[in-house]
Amino acid sequence: MCGIVGYIGTKQAQEVLLEGLSRLEYRGYDSAGIATIEKNVIRVEKKKGRLQNLVDFLEKKPFRGNVGIGHTRWATHGVPSDENAHPHFSLNKEIAVVHNGIIENYMALRDELTGLGHRFISDTDTEVVAHLLNELYTGDIVETVQIALKRIRGSYALGILCAKEPDKIVAVRKDSPLIVGLGKGENFIASDIPAILKYTKEVYLLDNGEMAVLTKNEVTILNAAGETIDKDVFVVDWDPGDAEKGGYDHFMMKEMMEQPKAMRDAITGRCAEAGAFFSGLHLDEEMMKHINRIQIVACGTAFHAGMVGKYYFEKFARISVEMEPASEYRYKNPIVDKNTLLIVISQSGETADTLAAIRLAKDKGAWVLAITNVVGSSIARESHDVIYTNAGPEIAVASTKAYVTQVGCMLLLASYLGQLNEKLGKKDAVRVCNGLAKTPELIEMVLDTQEKIRKFADANHEIHDLFYMGRGLDYYTCLEGSLKLKEISYIHSEAFAAGELKHGPIALIEDGTIVVAVCTQEHVFEKMLSNIKEVKARGAYVLAIVQESHEEIGSEVDEVWVIPKMDDDITPIPTVVYLQLMAYYLAVARECDVDKPKNLAKSVTVE
Ligand code: F6R
Repeated sequence: MCGIVGYIGTKQAQEVLLEGLSRLEYRGYDSAGIATIEKNVIRVEKKKGRLQNLVDFLEKKPFRGNVGIGHTRWATHGVPSDENAHPHFSLNKEIAVVHNGIIENYMALRDELTGLGHRFISDTDTEVVAHLLNELYTGDIVETVQIALKRIRGSYALGILCAKEPDKIVAVRKDSPLIVGLGKGENFIASDIPAILKYTKEVYLLDNGEMAVLTKNEVTILNAAGETIDKDVFVVDWDPGDAEKGGYDHFMMKEMMEQPKAMRDAITGRCAEAGAFFSGLHLDEEMMKHINRIQIVACGTAFHAGMVGKYYFEKFARISVEMEPASEYRYKNPIVDKNTLLIVISQSGETADTLAAIRLAKDKGAWVLAITNVVGSSIARESHDVIYTNAGPEIAVASTKAYVTQVGCMLLLASYLGQLNEKLGKKDAVRVCNGLAKTPELIEMVLDTQEKIRKFADANHEIHDLFYMGRGLDYYTCLEGSLKLKEISYIHSEAFAAGELKHGPIALIEDGTIVVAVCTQEHVFEKMLSNIKEVKARGAYVLAIVQESHEEIGSEVDEVWVIPKMDDDITPIPTVVYLQLMAYYLAVARECDVDKPKNLAKSVTVE
């Protein structure tokens, strides 16, 4: 949700900023802009639309200067336009600002500043920051930012340039992510690690309220009280190549292909002879004795992984689990106390609603365990315990490898908790680990069937609706498949618990409607067969996904996709890969922009 980058050093800033923005475009892509300082003059250029528009423009009229800030936008206040794009300028063109977040009291500030003669050219909340800094400027930009922050309410990651102090960048964050990259004779700011991974692996992870003052040779960190503090350098263990497309047409395809490796990395070191274990977790046998309530909170795809997790926890640890989207949980006064375990799931570790849920539950005394992909993210830092999914950077907006690793980690955790509270015997715990160990190979088998999926997509890409139905674990896989399809192909789609069919959804089935029936769960296989018959009787075209032991279903349906025979608890992992590929090829056949679907952003750092 908006990406920020900043550079100070000896290189041409424009080059570094555009490179950084290309890595951040997944956070927002409705407009982009940069500002650089050359000879005490700030120049700003910003363009509506994809970053390429800005690149094309700057190729003809390049900006010079070794200091600059850049921004890629996901619109919140004001439509995508050149005017609303960042950076925003002060009236006297001496201060430029890029911002990720929302300034909640911008209307009042705007009225006040207008009364003082400031003229606003955009509809954004951010522009007030530039004017406010201009109004309050004391001759020292650091001091001015500190004074201004006392007037600003909301969330922000800000990058600030001041023409009168051309040898520094000021950056500050509250509730929106921001990191500082440390180079030799150059320093960086960015919303996210991939933006600067090409230049440095050493970063400071700014905490809420902290400010960074960057010169080319030095970075000073100040706390909210304005005192200089020492901060640990965090060394990133991703390789620059991890954030490249690596020859694939889309990041999404690259990331789907990386799923076998991602699963291996998620499991490695977490399965021992006696079953799953997590070294370094504070949550232990003693603590589990006091836990009488588990809540799982997440958003989007991570929420679907949570639903699978709920099923696993209840099955293996025999603990009842409440599930809530983070956006609901945070506003419903949930019942939480010191005996509550809150499990949050988040790929980015920065989702605003999920973070708010953590803070709320912590205030009420809960123990918070995060499952996240991004080391050092806000969610990782604010939780008591963290399990990293180890999927590597996920750039495509549609989450794929993060999902399968989240499901894998949930299964491991459920089995671990089951062992801790003695509800799961060693034999079953080992069975879970053995099942998970096979998932990389199982995913590969599904990935090898792409030609068939592409053909299905080519034949069906003009459809208007697509329905998914399943029972138990398959229902959650259907929800995820349906979300993936909507996101990237814009085909209307819904997922039903198959038993709910007769309670309403069957009214939507017409001649030729495609229904994907996911039937991998043995104990409800026959129930699924009945549901298939019901939709077939109303003219549906049924594509069934089954374990190979049920290939005979071919006589009842129009098309069958098969996964090898496996433990039913493992099936969500390879099965979802079929649905990811189906969404991908349908989107490609419809000529959609797979990696950057309209209206979406990868990291939702505002409510
Ligand atoms: C879907 C997708 C989103 C995210 C959701 C939560 O493909 O990517 O639904 O899952 O925005 O994001 P994280 O996991 O970063 O908290």
